[in-house]
Amino acid sequence: MNLVDKTEKRFALTTPLYYVNDVPHVGSAYTTIAADVVARFHRLLGHEVLLITGTDEHGQKIQRSAESLGKPPQEFCDQIVPSFIKLWQLLNIQYDRFSRTTASRHEAIVKEFFMRVWEKGDIYQGKQKGWYCVSCEEFKEERDLLEGKRCPIHTNKEVEWRDEQNYFFSLSKYQTQLEEFYQSRPDFIQPESRRNEVLSFVSQGLQDFSISRVNLDWGFRVPVDSQHTLYVWFDALLAYVTALLEADAEPTLANALETWWPINLHLIGKDILRFHAVYWPAMLMSAGLPLPDQVFGHGFLTKDGQKMGKSLGNTLDPIGLVESYGSDAVRYYFLKEIEFGKDGDFNEVRFINVLNADLANDLGNLLNRTLNMVKKYCSNDGLTIGNEAINDENPLKAIGLGLGEQVKQSYQALAFNQACEATLLLVRTCNKFIDEQAPWSLYKQGKQQEVETVLYAVLESVRLAAYLLSPVIPNISNAIYLQLGFGIDFNDQVKTSMLAPFATHAQWGLLSSEQSLGKPLPVFKRIEIPKND
Ligand code: MSP
Repeated sequence: MNLVDKTEKRFALTTPLYYVNDVPHVGSAYTTIAADVVARFHRLLGHEVLLITGTDEHGQKIQRSAESLGKPPQEFCDQIVPSFIKLWQLLNIQYDRFSRTTASRHEAIVKEFFMRVWEKGDIYQGKQKGWYCVSCEEFKEERDLLEGKRCPIHTNKEVEWRDEQNYFFSLSKYQTQLEEFYQSRPDFIQPESRRNEVLSFVSQGLQDFSISRVNLDWGFRVPVDSQHTLYVWFDALLAYVTALLEADAEPTLANALETWWPINLHLIGKDILRFHAVYWPAMLMSAGLPLPDQVFGHGFLTKDGQKMGKSLGNTLDPIGLVESYGSDAVRYYFLKEIEFGKDGDFNEVRFINVLNADLANDLGNLLNRTLNMVKKYCSNDGLTIGNEAINDENPLKAIGLGLGEQVKQSYQALAFNQACEATLLLVRTCNKFIDEQAPWSLYKQGKQQEVETVLYAVLESVRLAAYLLSPVIPNISNAIYLQLGFGIDFNDQVKTSMLAPFATHAQWGLLSSEQSLGKPLPVFKRIEIPKND
């Protein structure tokens, strides 16, 4: 297969493909929000982006969930999938492809890939004995189990003993090649702590893993033996590849890999790191394909300090959260309050306090009161000065000049909290600056030029903040841009990258004296803390 080098301007990224054993919870939303922010940021840079999400629908876990409701598995999956699509719409996720592992063309890709690996001699039959966690769809080492033979991840689920004839993938054969790869590409696994986990796991010696199941109907047949069903993870990882096919393309590996391969970024939670950072690259090596650029394993969300998960039964309903507080609020909280890569907690009171402090007060009120001052103190409801009237020592300009580059680097490193914090620092400095400069007294003293200098510097800083935060809070950024007289819709990414490219809009000083400012309206309403009865 002849793979052409992918252009630098293209950026393909994935979320995990979510199990459909239940409706999505906040944990599933977390990765998807982050992926959408990365995708939006790259579109601002003018890149062509492909954001892939989807659902993982085969395997024992799904089969059992369907059985417990007395439904055929396909019907069960078809009923759950719309709840994911609905949530992504509510959260304002702009995905490009939705990959379902039950799609018929996916089977063709899986078959072709399997046969490549088979022909390479990397698949053989053997005996699989061990403890299996159906919720993880993974064999566990006995030493890792909790008391009562419970899974360390799904702590309320007991593992099950399996002793069966399976097909195996020769993972151990790729030990050295993988180790060399990790050394030559230190950024492949991020953050650093996860990389170290993987390196230490691999250094203990890799064991071949089974890629088929007997006594399981729900899945693709093993191409060389119809008595066996393909292991759900072997099939699921390949759905990233299937997603790359154009709608009308014949489902072949060559077609799928033509434009977007290799994928630039797989965003995942830390529990599925091994699959993406060890098994997946080895499978690709076996098939003779180039490897993805990066796997980033984020942390886990807890609720009020407690571990949260579908199988644990204490999930937070993301739909309710968005319906109560809006998509920007939910997106902002999770990305600003939690360092991506570390575990983080959701607590409703803290959630409300953060939103009120940052979005309602610091950002929203700032814009509102500044626009009202323009109305009050400036003729024709507008400013008469532009960037050239502001000297470089102005504290807002001083921060603003370097901010675009700084925030860009934070987004590139997936340090979303730093991107938000750095931008908020400018916003907070604006509030301090207004209080210190007191344009109301400057006005009384007849210092019109000084009044306008303060108001310009603040409005321009708010504009820059809105632009830089637009991947996270696109609706609020829209409202701010509108009030500052720009007809930009950050949800229309194609137009935005043309009308408001990063190279110009991430620069401080864009607002001009001709700007016709809009009507001041609240951009984020203060949330009241619900009273407990
Ligand atoms: N189907 C597999 C992925 C296959 S990818 C080819 C899977 N699905 S899952 O629905 O169980 O999990 C999807 C993602 O949700 C994982 O990245 C997992 O880490 C994440 N989360 C599940 N619970 C979570 C939290 N409580 N907090 C944050 N993310 C968590 O695994």
